[in-house]
Amino acid sequence: MNLRERFDRPLPSWTKDIKSEVYARIISAPFAEACRQGNREVMKKLVVELWPFVEVFPGIVERGYRKLLNPSFFLKYGPVDMVQLLRRAMHVLKDIKQDEKEHRNLWLDTGSSLGLRYSTDFEKEPLPQVKLWLDSVTRSSNPSETFLSFVAIEMIAESVSRNFLASEKFTSVLGKEGSRWFTVHTIDHGDESHENLEFCLAFTFYEGEADKETASRPIQYVVSRFLDAANVCV
Ligand SMILES: [Fe+2]
Repeated sequence: MNLRERFDRPLPSWTKDIKSEVYARIISAPFAEACRQGNREVMKKLVVELWPFVEVFPGIVERGYRKLLNPSFFLKYGPVDMVQLLRRAMHVLKDIKQDEKEHRNLWLDTGSSLGLRYSTDFEKEPLPQVKLWLDSVTRSSNPSETFLSFVAIEMIAESVSRNFLASEKFTSVLGKEGSRWFTVHTIDHGDESHENLEFCLAFTFYEGEADKETASRPIQYVVSRFLDAANVCV
């Protein structure tokens, strides 16, 4: 199977199970309960404390995709196939980077709806838990693991958004403008979602065949680091 065929394979059905497991972990966390209750103080703290991650995430995505430029992949898969795949991957990358830049601004809008001012209220040293969360998406030199860690971020964003927007107490604190970060993360992009494309890329470069257990591990690791960071704000 060449690279293109690997990339175009349909996703295994267990990717949906991983997603449900992530959703269940996120919504049962203390920080999520505080948000659904519309706890303003916790929400303010979350916006400020998680900002160092949101702020640098577009750059992390870019560096993650650059891992594909490793010469060993050109040797392994052949330059023609590799260049062809990189073209598609770079297209996805540009899209994700652009989206995440916009999301970064929407995050600040959520902050303003809570009375936070940029940049004065956001200037502080990141919490150790936030540093570990950042580390969880940058630590690996392996592109499969890196893309799975990006999948985790997509799943986290979608989980909190779907769950919190269903709470009237939550949306009434933020208002329409302040809720936009959450609204954009509930849009269904189907097979073309960043989550799916990142899964496809992860499985294209997988060592051997992907199975649920090994694919789930890096995803759940990032979710755990996120939960540590978010729960410390409660
Ligand atoms: Fe986002």
